[in-house]
Amino acid sequence: MEKLIEEIKELKKKRNAVILSHVYQRGEVQDIADFTGDSLGLSRMAISIRAEVIVFCGVRFMAETAAVLNPDKVILLPDKDAGCALADMATLEKLRAMKKKYPNAAVVSYVNSSAAVKAESDICCTSANAVDVVNSLREEEILFLPDKNLGRFVASRTNKKVISWDGFCYVHHLNIGKEDIRRKRMKYPGARVMVHPECPPEVIELADYVGSTAQMAKYASENNFKEFIVGTEVGMLHKLKAQNPDKKFYPASERAICKDMKLITLEKVALSLKEMQYQVKIPNDIAIRARKALERMLKIRK
Ligand code: 13P
Ligand code: SF4
Repeated sequence: MEKLIEEIKELKKKRNAVILSHVYQRGEVQDIADFTGDSLGLSRMAISIRAEVIVFCGVRFMAETAAVLNPDKVILLPDKDAGCALADMATLEKLRAMKKKYPNAAVVSYVNSSAAVKAESDICCTSANAVDVVNSLREEEILFLPDKNLGRFVASRTNKKVISWDGFCYVHHLNIGKEDIRRKRMKYPGARVMVHPECPPEVIELADYVGSTAQMAKYASENNFKEFIVGTEVGMLHKLKAQNPDKKFYPASERAICKDMKLITLEKVALSLKEMQYQVKIPNDIAIRARKALERMLKIRK
């Protein structure tokens, strides 16, 4: 592994590249990255980076977001099949039909969506800023897609009428249940429970804190609690443990694994830099409109 890491460092220099990694990536991939973060943090990072090449260790919608925001940089996704089952639940056809049905609604699309869907949206959001994004809009009616749990969570924190899509993330919706939380609370009675808003409402109800991956990381490091049950993809524990060596973290569910995130390996990162693959390119007409929705979101600072 040492040899591979050295090779990646050399290739990075040669290509004038930086490596961005989402916190659901394998531990060793997070460790070689120049920056790790949540979708919002990585989107912001992608625009402030000077390098010519960004290797995006994450899933396609994240690399697409970086490509839309950085038309002059080369964006590489080390495995071309790393997708997102939730993003796939929002099709352009359905969005167009929903827009017809709710002509007065503002369309807010979670970044976990394709560039084509973003292009048809008024504004994007991530799990970190969804409530602020919805509150920033003058429309009273919001068409929120594609995650129904995040939609419901947002609805519970605004006075707007939120029309939710019926999409879900299998990792959070199907693989983290209220029984998992109850069991872990029994096992670790002193631990705080923090969960991602993609979890189902009955899980959210049992949590002490609900937030994006970066918000959870902040919550864990900024308070005095020593033990945490973590209701999100298990890769997140790698970062939490590294940042808080004096604290303990337990997965809410060992089944919470995103198989697409785990497709990226060190070997594929090296190959990606060697062969300059797989380049993520967005057709210009889509990129221009998707950029508008993303930039409108990035203006909201909170
Ligand atoms: P974050 O925006 O919290 O990083 O989450 C992204 C994601 O894919 C959640 O499943
Ligand atoms: Fe998509 Fe869920 Fe994987 Fe996040 S964890 S990338 S929402 S499938």
